[in-house]
Amino acid sequence: MGTVLSKIAVCGAGAMGSGIAQVAAQSGAQVIVFDIQPAAIAASEARTLASIDGLVAKGKLDDRQASGIRERMRWTCDLKALADVELVIEAIIEDAEVKGQLFEQLEAIVGSGTILASNTSSLPIARLARALKTPERFVGMHFFNPATVMKLVEVVAGPATEPSVADAVRETAESWGKVAIPVSDVPGFIVNRVARPFYAEAFTALNEAAADAATIDALFRAAGFRMGPLELTDLIGQDVNFSVARSVYDSYFGRTRFVPQLRQAALVDAGWLGRKSGRGVYCYGEESPKRATVVSATDAVKPDRAPVAADLKDSAPGAFVECDGILLGMTRGRSAHAEAASQGRPVALLDWFPSTGDSEIAFSSSSDAAAEVMTKVIAAWGRPGCHVADRAGLIVCRTLAQLVNAAADAVLEQVSNERGIDAALRFGANYPFGPFAWADDFGRGQVVAVLDAVADETGEAMYRPSPYLRKFA
Ligand code: NAI
Repeated sequence: MGTVLSKIAVCGAGAMGSGIAQVAAQSGAQVIVFDIQPAAIAASEARTLASIDGLVAKGKLDDRQASGIRERMRWTCDLKALADVELVIEAIIEDAEVKGQLFEQLEAIVGSGTILASNTSSLPIARLARALKTPERFVGMHFFNPATVMKLVEVVAGPATEPSVADAVRETAESWGKVAIPVSDVPGFIVNRVARPFYAEAFTALNEAAADAATIDALFRAAGFRMGPLELTDLIGQDVNFSVARSVYDSYFGRTRFVPQLRQAALVDAGWLGRKSGRGVYCYGEESPKRATVVSATDAVKPDRAPVAADLKDSAPGAFVECDGILLGMTRGRSAHAEAASQGRPVALLDWFPSTGDSEIAFSSSSDAAAEVMTKVIAAWGRPGCHVADRAGLIVCRTLAQLVNAAADAVLEQVSNERGIDAALRFGANYPFGPFAWADDFGRGQVVAVLDAVADETGEAMYRPSPYLRKFA
């Protein structure tokens, strides 16, 4: 490892600044936390010390380590106290002008070799750098909330950033146990850009009544995600999540891939902001939401379903297994009705699901009879089936394919490489797998086929496969 910076200042003692400061101090750095508000300083100090006590109580730190951390941390409202640090991480309010003023003041105080970093999530590093006399020492260092837990740091080089500066903050973040990924200076960087379809597709599915909210979320949990997309937006705050969606869309000059969702705008208009307002997609404080979509495998499973189930499990998308005059298969992007029209027989299709485990499996069908057969075949796997509305690409498969599409565009546009994007989504958004890892498992050619089929059936150009994906399919 090359340069690891050990004298750190964090500006802004809010949620992010306090967390970043604690991470640095826990890894052995000397840390000064600066804020203009004495109350913010006092709250940050109290919160951090309580958090360290909590780690001792849980046995994650011993008393000697805890006192070392306390000794290495200082809180101040005096900017001059930052004079001899090696790295300043700015985490104040998200306002380019206010940030610019702080950087001007910092340049007059710190040494010429001090690196200045911003934790901004939405302002271009290029724009912030304009406030500096020495933009070559300026870099983006984008942590995720909560900074003490989330491992990802996006390291954003602006047009003037010296490569050695980006390397030094990357190596420093790695020494703090972070996964630091170099990213180019584009709106949303990796995570806030590539993850858009995760939310957008869920609101689209809800809007089209593909399933109720609780079912949509349950299917993503079944697919390995810690939280479903809709419950996650309630946790983040509909206003916060929608404003990121808008900002990304506007910053890309209205690219259709990033179009925000009216369904979410309506929640914001109504003041249904999620958990913090007691109501969002869900109502809080009441009993947990009921699922309208039936999950049933109650009928006795006839023994003759087992071989069909085995064949279906091994079948590739597009290859049907016949059972009682019904064609059963995995989705390849077309709806069951479209498949049935071209096959001349009723069809039931499975959404994507992890092959191991006992989680529920969603399917759609072109007829009730087809649904009945599919329910029994899924039951033969010992897993519950979940009948959702018939639509192109179903729910999980369409979303994952569109995430791959967004990731592929990001590689095409040199935001990062495949490994960087997969790591960013795993460590910055807690995804169970990166989009490219999923695409390799599903088959890149299949992802292209799904996207083309969804684009054809919906008429929406935003599903057209990225040229990068076509090339590597
Ligand atoms: P926050 O509102 O919790 O804290 C901001 C702090 O900055 C406040 O304590 C405020 O007193 C202080 N402050 C305002 N102007 C100042 C100045 N001129 N000098 C010194 N301190 C000043 O905000 P939060 O959530 O911690 O966000 C801070 C930054 O981190 C923003 O740029 C935000 O975009 C970014 N960020 C936020 C994430 C989040 O999930 N909250 C995630 C990643 C980045």
